[in-house]
Amino acid sequence: MTDPLRIDLRAFRGALGAFATGVTIVTTRDKDGRDVGLTANSFNSVSLEPPMVLWSLGKTSQSLKAFVEAGHFAVHILSIDQDSLSGRFAKSGGDKFVGLTVERGQGQIPLLDGCAARFECRSAFQYDGGDHVIFVGEVIALDHSGRPPLVFHGGRYAAVIGTSEAARQEPRAATEGGFGEDFLGYLLGRAHYQFFARMRPELERRVLREEEYTDILSVLSLRDNRSVTELNALVEFTGYHVTQEAVASLEKRGLVSLDSATDPDPRVQLTAEGRRTVIELIAVAKSIEADAEADLDQSERLVLRRLLKKVLRNTDPGLPSLWEAE
Ligand SMILES: Cc1cc2nc3c(=O)[nH]c(=O)nc-3n(C[C@H](O)[C@H](O)[C@H](O)COP(=O)(O)O)c2cc1C
Repeated sequence: MTDPLRIDLRAFRGALGAFATGVTIVTTRDKDGRDVGLTANSFNSVSLEPPMVLWSLGKTSQSLKAFVEAGHFAVHILSIDQDSLSGRFAKSGGDKFVGLTVERGQGQIPLLDGCAARFECRSAFQYDGGDHVIFVGEVIALDHSGRPPLVFHGGRYAAVIGTSEAARQEPRAATEGGFGEDFLGYLLGRAHYQFFARMRPELERRVLREEEYTDILSVLSLRDNRSVTELNALVEFTGYHVTQEAVASLEKRGLVSLDSATDPDPRVQLTAEGRRTVIELIAVAKSIEADAEADLDQSERLVLRRLLKKVLRNTDPGLPSLWEAE
């Protein structure tokens, strides 16, 4: 163990960073009626009966006087989407509340919206804690939205992800020169095929080929009235090429209509029947999605999407996005 009298400050900070915490914003109102607040991760629970919490404030903080004098303060446990709010309240001084909607709690203290949980406290005790002051508050009101919390770990914002049995299993090792069970390409590919395996009977029932649905009908449901050239630009990432014949075949089945029989690159629209078919298939896809993430909590669902989007960004050859504004 390191000699406790000669602890290196950087090493101390680094080691503390190994402790994952939530992120809070603590607010109060100063004697002149100005709203005051800062980002703090030193929050913790203290007592259940009476309900008490604590947090500590650096003695160089601009907010120190306001909190020392305050009769009340509020602790907001931030939700996963509030990392930029955390950044705003981690800057020193100035009015951090500009443009924010606030409610008013006991003693007119400002209460922020959209948090994972919120505690209104009566200031109960203050203790000296080295270069910080420790504030203990008695909780007089609380609310809990159930939104996934924002996490702080190793100097970075993060999200909660469960450590389920399946996630903890050691992946089977790669064969020599091959790839292992954790190879990303295998995982993405297998997830895709297993997802679509359940779509296939629904497509067959409607006498539709997979590409006719994924590359033409569902694209038109997002961006109707497209020329075949435009459709091809939008689905180029799939490797499938939309042909005039494929479009003509869907027209024959009453699912799309063309704005011209003679134009070499006619515009394609969904018919009412085509739109009904797509809506039914999207409902099926949504039910498969719900089953696929049945044992993921809200935070894991969000993390999964964010990570997949990163993979899409990292592998993007610069093709247009279906969801981009035109
Ligand atoms: C994730 C995170 C956690 C923080 N935790 C604390 C804390 O617990 N106590 C503290 O005094 N400052 C903490 N800070 C730093 C303050 O938010 C920062 O010093 C802020 O500028 C203080 O504002 P003020 O000078 O206007 O009071 C934290 C900053 C971040 C980004």
